Amino acid sequence: MLPAKLSASLMCANLLDIEKDIRELEQAGIEYLHMDIMDGEFVPNLMLNNLFLKAVRSITKLPFDIHLMITNPERKLDWFDIRPGDIVSIHYESTSNVLGSLQLIEEKGALPSVALSPATSIESIHYVLDNIKMVNIMAVNPGFAGRKMVPMTLQKIQDTRNMLDSLGYGHIMLEVDGNVSLENASHMRHAGADVFVGGSSGLFLSDKSIQVSAKKLKDVINC
Ligand code: DX5
Ligand code: ZN
Repeated sequence: MLPAKLSASLMCANLLDIEKDIRELEQAGIEYLHMDIMDGEFVPNLMLNNLFLKAVRSITKLPFDIHLMITNPERKLDWFDIRPGDIVSIHYESTSNVLGSLQLIEEKGALPSVALSPATSIESIHYVLDNIKMVNIMAVNPGFAGRKMVPMTLQKIQDTRNMLDSLGYGHIMLEVDGNVSLENASHMRHAGADVFVGGSSGLFLSDKSIQVSAKKLKDVINC
């Protein structure tokens, strides 16, 4: 089991005072800032963009966990301020050139990752295992915060972890993204996840500070 990491979904942060939230996330020991980039085509929503990435980059040293929910990412990677140490996830369903996208991400010094929507088989990453450092298992249909975990998710996480370990790819991180609540996070960890996207379900909560909710999540995922 790889060490557990928390990746804070900034689309769920207080965008009117993002610097305050980022300072709290830094103090809480968050490992990554999760950036949901949406184009209104691949998903029926618009969200964070390249200008937001540049602005956040100017106020923190935390690495980015960039989740590209855009069509044909291989044609658009240069639009984004991608740095060595970042993780960049492209959706398997978003391009006919998955391998080319991953190779371009690696050329930028970032960690390539494939995101799989709930209905997409884990077999789809079989022939790019040498080209990825992470797989993002979407627990919800991508595009919106606040959605409920698809029931098959835990089995899918378990099957993915088993596949990676049995094929000798135990070093590949397994991220789970969507509805990572305190209760779900525990089951997701036991199923084999090691990177957890904290959003409106478990990290940015109306009745708890970021410090408190991050500590509770960390206690659960570091079991
Ligand atoms: C959804 C995004 C997630 C989302 C997580 O498409 O990829 O990162 O913001 O937030 P919650 O916890 O609300 O599912
Ligand atoms: Zn995401």
